[in-house]
Amino acid sequence: MKKTLLCLAMTAAAVLSAPAHAADKSVQVIHWWTSGGEAAALGVLKNDLQSQGVTWKDVPIAGGGGSQAMTTLRARLLANDPPTASQMLGFNITDWAKQGVLQDLTPLAEKGNWAEKVPKALQAFDVYKGKWIAAPIDVHSTNWVWANKAVLEKAGVTTEPKTWDQFVTDLEKVKKAGFIGLAVGGQSWQEATMFDGVVLSTGGPDFYRNAFIKLDQKALTSPLMLKAFERMSTLRKYVDPNFANRDWNVATGMVINGKAGFQIMGNWALGEFNHADKVPGKDFLCFNVPGTQGSVTYNSDVFVFFKVGASEKAAQDLMAEDIMSPKVQSGFNVLKGAAPAVLGTSDADFNACGKKAIADLAYADKHNTLLGSMSQGYAVPPAIQNAFYDVISREFNGQITPQEAVKQLAAAAKAQY
Ligand code: GAL
Repeated sequence: MKKTLLCLAMTAAAVLSAPAHAADKSVQVIHWWTSGGEAAALGVLKNDLQSQGVTWKDVPIAGGGGSQAMTTLRARLLANDPPTASQMLGFNITDWAKQGVLQDLTPLAEKGNWAEKVPKALQAFDVYKGKWIAAPIDVHSTNWVWANKAVLEKAGVTTEPKTWDQFVTDLEKVKKAGFIGLAVGGQSWQEATMFDGVVLSTGGPDFYRNAFIKLDQKALTSPLMLKAFERMSTLRKYVDPNFANRDWNVATGMVINGKAGFQIMGNWALGEFNHADKVPGKDFLCFNVPGTQGSVTYNSDVFVFFKVGASEKAAQDLMAEDIMSPKVQSGFNVLKGAAPAVLGTSDADFNACGKKAIADLAYADKHNTLLGSMSQGYAVPPAIQNAFYDVISREFNGQITPQEAVKQLAAAAKAQY
């Protein structure tokens, strides 16, 4: 007993007096990956960094879409207490770059040839005024539907719907068979995520681009936008009464467990199926929102690094380089459900839905149908995005008519930012 205590004391003393470098290397990371699948994916990066002697200090802020995490981040920067790194999306990256608080990753990017490896659409956000300020870890997309195969079979749905009308017919069949048609979490970011796919399906890629990226008033006030809102009202009929404020992964769980037939959600939902050991084609189906085949509404999760001081720069560089490594790009995304952000990463380890995400991204990139996701901050700046969320949510919840929603959406697009 005495001997063991002595040994422990000696080990502790050795650790305390160890050269500073090992203890120095730590990263404190803000992110919103708190679901089972998300945490498993993040574990790949965390473990790989730890194997290189970098201690990971986790700052998880729950809330899909990341708005809570961004609120925390803002508060910390205001208090002059930035983290080492933070997960981030779209226009938020540009906003922080403008503030001059992000580390310049250009020397790493040049060494690793990121300019050749990252899709050009992403570089518009990862590079600010010619300097790399973000390391992209994935490319997600929002125009996906997830379905429980056994539920569909019981409802007499034999193939995945390819058109909107067929989708509605299938939702009706699933509901009649005694299941919840559509699993939804009543949070505005989730409703907006569905709206990405609905708008794309209703009007096609040019309409989506005109309405959400160019903020063209003609597109925003057109009969197609009215139709898109009417389709949201149609979807609402297939949602169960307890959907208010349900988390997205709980809704995915309803499809996984056979309570609901379908969920319209970004392909982070695949991470939950993966985490539950479900097999595509056997247990569940993944397909594009009917009518959006060939297009991809993307969002790419990146990490940005704050100017926190020279002593932390080495760990920041290690983390950025690790994110861009084939090992992490593959290992992380296999679990996460996204396509790698580094083009040419082997798809060998991905399941059928993961391979589809990779192939869809490559196709859309070539055919000019790779479109920034409005719901995930890749189409419009946060002020307009939040105003859109509000309109979409109130329409979905029956507080305003589709006609009123069209007017309010168009007005929200004119907001100053
Ligand atoms: C998105 C993010 C995804 C996913 C999702 C739900 O904003 O880009 O990686 O995790 O939120 O939390």
